[in-house]
Amino acid sequence: MFDPQQVKKHFPILDQEAHPGKPLVYLDSAATSQKPKSVIEAMNHYYLTDNANVHRGVHVLSDRASELWETSKGKVAQFIGAQKDELIFTRNTTEAINGIAYGWGEHNLQKGDVIVSTIMEHHANLVVWQELCKRTGAKLLVVGLQDEAEINLAEFEKAVRQPNVKLVAFVHVSNTLGTVNPVKELVSLVRKHAKGARIVLDAAQSVPHMPVDFHQLDVDFLVFGGHKMLGPMGIGGLVVRLNLLKSSEMQPWLFGGGMIQAVQAQTATYSDDLSERFTAGTPDVASALGLAEACKFLDNLGMENVMKHDFELVKYAFMQLSRIKGLKIIGPKPKNYNRLGSVAFIHDSVHAHDLAQIIDSEGVAVRSGHHCTMPLHQACGWQATTRASFNVYSTKTDIDALVKAFDRVNQIFGL
Ligand SMILES: Cc1ncc(COP(=O)(O)O)c(C=O)c1O
Repeated sequence: MFDPQQVKKHFPILDQEAHPGKPLVYLDSAATSQKPKSVIEAMNHYYLTDNANVHRGVHVLSDRASELWETSKGKVAQFIGAQKDELIFTRNTTEAINGIAYGWGEHNLQKGDVIVSTIMEHHANLVVWQELCKRTGAKLLVVGLQDEAEINLAEFEKAVRQPNVKLVAFVHVSNTLGTVNPVKELVSLVRKHAKGARIVLDAAQSVPHMPVDFHQLDVDFLVFGGHKMLGPMGIGGLVVRLNLLKSSEMQPWLFGGGMIQAVQAQTATYSDDLSERFTAGTPDVASALGLAEACKFLDNLGMENVMKHDFELVKYAFMQLSRIKGLKIIGPKPKNYNRLGSVAFIHDSVHAHDLAQIIDSEGVAVRSGHHCTMPLHQACGWQATTRASFNVYSTKTDIDALVKAFDRVNQIFGL
């Protein structure tokens, strides 16, 4: 197990005051993680010494940039248990999900088909399917929860037993409830009842906190974002099973330079090289490099250790916050790694935004609102929640500071 105090030293941004006399305590890592020095330096180094466009030149810098792009892709793919050719770099998780809708959905769905998703999804994993349904005539079924914490498995099974289920999309770790979904069980229900249906796993909040292996998970598509896993903003990934990516089921959805084989005035053919075929235009080489560096940083800590550390924090936060009068913690009770990454709560007499603002005045950064899960909030009757979320540099001392900030809340509201 690593020492988070030592890990913290790699993140210079955390060494500052939020307000005079109030050291910054960053508990908003589910929104975006901070970046270690090595990631920032790798990107700086690229722009200072290696920058050129990729695959298009025959000069030394272009060769170097192309090589860095390819090796970064290989590293990131390896980190999530995928083959290099199965990974398509995108700008973020949202763009990766849109890529599935445009690259697969538009060519494989029609009126009468069914997409199954769940009420705990981030908007990115719901709105994209709503729009795809509008364009294709498919229908969206949204599975509800059990105990305001977990996917209702009976309802899920019923949904995937419907005729013409073609796509099933669900989140690995909920960004609001913290719930770690039973992927194996969900996948086997889909494979049993909805033969041939494609499965999308939103791994935006799992890749930063636990070991994730694309092939072991046995899904068809996996999406994630670099900025939540210590990497830079502006890069994410869509992982597609190789045989699916090679087949005519999956088509490019961005067109232009870099992805073609031959172009005439009226028609064009597209590259057979998968790395080119799905990467139109100039890629973000520096960010790919930064993300590969973030993967190395996480590898050095060991993802099993990262998960253990994270779960310790979740348990500790759950226990400490439970003691605060008037506070209800949402999501499952922590047990056997059933939740990771964050702890969100509701105060019975202070609005989530007021809570976050007062907590911020004590130097502690948390998030309030619906966390891009409005349907979940509506289903559970919550107006807004406040969320503390963690990463490898988070410590129990950070959580103590959050708990201490409630003294100020109580003082202001006379509680
Ligand atoms: C579970 C989940 N899915 C998708 C997203 C969207 O990520 P991005 O905004 O980086 O595209 C997020 C972001 O919070 C998330 O938590």
